[in-house]
Amino acid sequence: MSGGPAAAVGEIDDFHDLGDDVEAFRADVLRGLSQPQKQLPCKYFYDERGSRLFDRICELDAYYPTRTEMRILEDCCNEIAALTAGGASLVEFGSGASRKVRLLLDRLDRPNAYIPIDISREHLLAAARTLAADYPTLVVLPICADYTGSLALPDWAMSDARLGFFPGSTIGNFEPRAARAFLRGAAGILGDGASLVIGVDLKKDLRILHEAYNDPLGVTADFNLNLLRRINAELGGNVDIASFAHDARYNDDLGRIEMHLVSERAQTVDIAGQRFTFRAGETIHTENSYKYDLDQFRALANDAGWSHDRVWCDEDRLFSVHYLSTAT
Ligand code: TRP
Repeated sequence: MSGGPAAAVGEIDDFHDLGDDVEAFRADVLRGLSQPQKQLPCKYFYDERGSRLFDRICELDAYYPTRTEMRILEDCCNEIAALTAGGASLVEFGSGASRKVRLLLDRLDRPNAYIPIDISREHLLAAARTLAADYPTLVVLPICADYTGSLALPDWAMSDARLGFFPGSTIGNFEPRAARAFLRGAAGILGDGASLVIGVDLKKDLRILHEAYNDPLGVTADFNLNLLRRINAELGGNVDIASFAHDARYNDDLGRIEMHLVSERAQTVDIAGQRFTFRAGETIHTENSYKYDLDQFRALANDAGWSHDRVWCDEDRLFSVHYLSTAT
């Protein structure tokens, strides 16, 4: 480690809080529900309860991305370590429970630090503390932030090699234009000579997709409906949550799963002093999950200024893990 904070053994070493506040949430909700196609930004799924529900989604049999990506990472992490210079700062965008990153931390040559960035404050801190206890000599610096905004890493993290990690096909939750902007932004945050390991879900049989996003246990439904619960709890809304249903549909033209909350009857709801009207069957569009072809993702990465070094897939070609790097 070069000039960083002294690692507090088994504890997180510092915490940077750039998290969102309730005013931003209110403004985004009021704006989103005023559109002709009502919508809500997906980042608000991840309060404490939403983060826990999402961790449960990742363990569902029907939700193939998590276990498939884990298996690919287990097989390719030695190659990733060989491609990455020693002493790297590992920066994870949207770190959640910080489970997958352990595969990399176990293989990398003397990692300098682990910097998890996540919007879910308590979840981030709990995951960072657990990880710090398991890797007592590693410097752990959690940053609570929306990583699509501007963000600077501390100077000491910029002096060594930098490896970004963006698993879970979260890139698929951005519109193609925003995905390009994220990749450009990540190159800016990580700096020249950095690399990025990124998980990307692939186009596939529609039945597999349907099961994954409409799981039979209804955990995904709970997760989606949690947005309405948050609106009631934090913005004083009076949404009758039982009158909304979860629905995930594949949009073939755009190559994406769309997540909706369907109003099952005509109704009005009041949120933060504003009234919104729903027709029966009208939806709130809450999330997209774009599915890529390998060539399509390679082109997107190149377009955003990254060179495409390697790709690994499972044998059924459900999911892909890519290794990208910026020019030195
Ligand atoms: N990045 C995940 C994906 O696109 C996010 C996700 C999984 C998700 N299941 C969901 C988001 C259900 C909203 C609702 O697969």
